[in-house]
Amino acid sequence: MNPIKRGVFALCMLASGGVFAADPVSLTIDTAKPGAIINKDVYGQFAEHLGTGIYEGIWVGPKSKTPNTKGWRNDVVGALKDIKVPLVRWPGGCFADEYHWRDGIGPREKRPVKVNTNWGGVDESNAVGTHEFFDLVDLLGADAYVNGNLGTGSAQEMSEWVEYMTSDSKSTLANMRRKNGRDKPFKVAYFAVGNEAWGCGGNMSPQYYSDLYKQVETFLRAPKQYRPKIIASGGNDNDVAWSDVLSKELKKQTDGISFHYYTIPTGKWDVKGASTSFQENEWISTLSNTLRMESHIQKNTAAMDKHDPEKKLGLFVDEWGTWYDVEKGTNPGFLFQQNTLRDAVVAALNFNIFHAHADRVRMTNIAQMVNVLQAMILTDKDKMILTPTYYAYQMYVPFQNATSLPVSLQNNPDYSVGNVKIPEISASAARGTDGKLYVALVNTNPNQPADVALNIPGQAVKAVKGRVLTAAAMDAHNTFAAPQAIKPAPFSAAAGADGKLTVKVPAKAVIVVAVE
Ligand code: AHR
Repeated sequence: MNPIKRGVFALCMLASGGVFAADPVSLTIDTAKPGAIINKDVYGQFAEHLGTGIYEGIWVGPKSKTPNTKGWRNDVVGALKDIKVPLVRWPGGCFADEYHWRDGIGPREKRPVKVNTNWGGVDESNAVGTHEFFDLVDLLGADAYVNGNLGTGSAQEMSEWVEYMTSDSKSTLANMRRKNGRDKPFKVAYFAVGNEAWGCGGNMSPQYYSDLYKQVETFLRAPKQYRPKIIASGGNDNDVAWSDVLSKELKKQTDGISFHYYTIPTGKWDVKGASTSFQENEWISTLSNTLRMESHIQKNTAAMDKHDPEKKLGLFVDEWGTWYDVEKGTNPGFLFQQNTLRDAVVAALNFNIFHAHADRVRMTNIAQMVNVLQAMILTDKDKMILTPTYYAYQMYVPFQNATSLPVSLQNNPDYSVGNVKIPEISASAARGTDGKLYVALVNTNPNQPADVALNIPGQAVKAVKGRVLTAAAMDAHNTFAAPQAIKPAPFSAAAGADGKLTVKVPAKAVIVVAVE
């Protein structure tokens, strides 16, 4: 249409009260080119001795009036089982580099009380130790990720902890484990040598850490069938040198390198931004900052590809999530924050990024599971609420161990506020272990729904069915007074007579559907 005709047509449309329907976003899913398996451990959790993340939040002790199994709260464990937690990282975090495992075995009343110097300076009773942690993962049906102490520990201490947990011999340490109630070796899926060695773990350089790691790893001995994957503690969003140096130096001695990246609305650690009652500029800055995970993974992967093109090493994002200013009136060392629809969108955007890098990103742990940072569950004494992030994990369960599929988006508009802009739609697709095709869609725009036309060459689409998580407010969240304020709702859409299916994704929403 020439410009004059187009102008006349536009005037006619306006005069008749007509509107121009925006072209839908087109999502193409290439089912003929399956990618890597999305390791279930990408949906891993993190439980640190921090605030009420363990004590009160999950652990109440076997003598508590709160219904519990072996000291672990039945309500919290039950809810976590519903999101099929595949893996739990413990005991830290920064706490790990001051944790001495012998403090946490044997009769609980005889264990030493320490000070948790990293987190609030509170007493650490050591009531939760190795055996209690394995009770938790057993109850959850999850695997264990144990983080060793490099900062204030030693090669000997880590070596002996691994022997204590995994030896099936008659050694004194293995017998000590038996005396403490566990006959068979524990299954330790992953063992990390230190945490954030660039910071709270000892302020080291990558080269210095790499030498220490080599020394420690030499002495981490376990029977073949019980040998954990050993993880080198890597870098953060400011520095790819760790992935570079460690993948070069430790190629033959490690299963992977960790990486940490936290999403902060303002991007500044001193004033991070509030968890609720934020304006749209902090909605978009949070989502824009979280989308940087993509380039962080790309940069770290590129560094690792130089030394490990076969991708034998994993990039383990073993801490990620939102980090806000703590809630007023709470202990600043406890990192307690509310959790809103914005957090669910953050989680879903990250899942979609992790799926796209499933060949390298084979494990992640959101920080953290209960009451700390971007938590699944918040507790107040006997009460418990499920957060929007919890529901994002629940909706994405079909992606655990699914086969990733390439997706491409055409005609995907930008959503912008001021000079910040991000793509409106994020998408991911995978073939589930049940054989079904699953699609996840996120609309980052809090003001406009978006039409997404599905294009799946070679597959006739009849309908999609699943769930949607959305709400009227950007900061919709559950409270102890209103625990059901936000939760997923059923979602379905049917193909038209022409066999085409367009999904109307509500504003600020996460959708996961199976394609029929
Ligand atoms: O998750 C909270 C803390 O953040 C962890 O202990 C530490 O590793 C990171 O700095």
